[in-house]
Amino acid sequence: MPNVAFINGSFMPLAEAKVSIEDRGFQFGDGIYEVIRTYKGRPFALDAHLARLDRSATALDLTQPYSCAEWTHHVLEGIRRAAYPEAKIYVQVTRGVAPRDHVYADELRPTVVMTVREFHPLDRSVQAAGVEAITTEDIRWGRCDIKSVNLLANVLARQQVKKAQVFETILVKEELVTEGAVSNVMVVQGGTVVTAPEGSRILSGVTRAVVLDLALSEGLSIQERFVSQADLYEADEVFLTGTTVEVLAVVRIDGKVIGGGRPGPITQRLAAGFTSRVG
Ligand code: PDD
Repeated sequence: MPNVAFINGSFMPLAEAKVSIEDRGFQFGDGIYEVIRTYKGRPFALDAHLARLDRSATALDLTQPYSCAEWTHHVLEGIRRAAYPEAKIYVQVTRGVAPRDHVYADELRPTVVMTVREFHPLDRSVQAAGVEAITTEDIRWGRCDIKSVNLLANVLARQQVKKAQVFETILVKEELVTEGAVSNVMVVQGGTVVTAPEGSRILSGVTRAVVLDLALSEGLSIQERFVSQADLYEADEVFLTGTTVEVLAVVRIDGKVIGGGRPGPITQRLAAGFTSRVG
């Protein structure tokens, strides 16, 4: 059964899946999500994704419908039913269905949705060459640490990416680099890996944590602090981290060549280390 959907405990083909137009996710963006991918058919860092889903739920005063064990069961079952070589699992929890009113009733039953689609990893040639990015103003709200389905600012930023025919946009708030529209951003300065600190200005990526841990275990120094947009252009290396991009070199930003215009040695080391951790 390809392209599997799951709504509130039941699996069905994606084409048959329907939710109410009065779902608060639809009307208010009142919900949270996670994107998980498989390696060799197994979900990567599922516990970390589920822990972040829990944190997002708590931040929004949203009742988590399933325990970690129940979520794991449903995700594994979705992967099994879809039977793709590699899958991308999208899970979403919204506050539930109610007549439109900004205020919500405490007893609402959350709407749980999951889709399982085929995942196509990035082309190896793209990984090897690195990608181009632009910068755009980070116009998102003050709680970017919550993985909320309110993604309008990210949607608009990604549309700029499409227009510019590049790979990603790096978001800049008050001259400081926060993260990408769908990824975290790391720079290498004099051998140190630097990335924005956890907090309300970024989504704390599951991949980000794995890569920082990897950097430490490789004997590299890391710093969690903001870098300026000017420092970004001057960095020795810049790379993205994320579920869909893994560790991906950025070799040109706003038309300016980064480092030598090729993936740098530390990026390559971390990309290789990441591949061996997930394999
Ligand atoms: N997004 N920052 C933002 C704003 C993101 O949307 C994502 C991932 C990340 C990377 O997080 P992780 O390493 O946990 O995937 C950072 C997913 C893939 C999405 O919205 O599709």
